[in-house]
Amino acid sequence: MSTVKKTKSTGKKPVKAPKGPAAVALNADKATSGGITADDLGVENNDQAPGVRRRDFIHIATVSFAGVGAAAVAMPLVSQMSASADVLALASIEVDVAAIQTGQSIKTSWRKQPVFIRNLTPAEVEEANKVDVGGLRDPQTLADRTKPGKENWLITLGVCTHLGCVPLGAAAGEVKGEYGGYFCPCHGSHYDTAARIRKGPAPTNLVVPEFAFISDTVVKIG
Ligand code: FES
Repeated sequence: MSTVKKTKSTGKKPVKAPKGPAAVALNADKATSGGITADDLGVENNDQAPGVRRRDFIHIATVSFAGVGAAAVAMPLVSQMSASADVLALASIEVDVAAIQTGQSIKTSWRKQPVFIRNLTPAEVEEANKVDVGGLRDPQTLADRTKPGKENWLITLGVCTHLGCVPLGAAAGEVKGEYGGYFCPCHGSHYDTAARIRKGPAPTNLVVPEFAFISDTVVKIG
């Protein structure tokens, strides 16, 4: 069964993306992990029914925010209120991506914004790398937007840079646009497999938040 466990480094609880069978168990039992139910996690699984495509999109309500810990508890109320902006500025989440298979995406949230975490296929990586960056509206390579040795892990805000809609493409069956990444139907912005703007009114690529892998499978965002 999927768990939400504490890490040694920070004491915070990384959000672990449940695998299909685990998600089924969570849904079936309404089991809790750290007080979080499967419903809370928004986990669904479609691979029980023959012919139904495995759902590769998992919405995870993240629960781990840095800075909202013992130090904040110890602060006087007035100080907490005045420091809220600072606390927010420091907020980070840790996500265990071990269960996200190649070609799958999950959606989580960070600082109240959707975040897409995508495990690119080799073909998607190749597609991103063969683009002439000089011709892009917002010139960036895939390497610019990922970490060395982990170019398959594309982590971006799920917020269109035009007017802030949440693009499609992170869930199974959703339209990914003309360039195989994400598509914002609000006004027709198309992003490629590196989440770079390729067509439509969005002025820039989907934003890559500050992130780092703190282990082989746990990524810290923020
Ligand atoms: S908000 Fe995405 S295209 Fe307008």
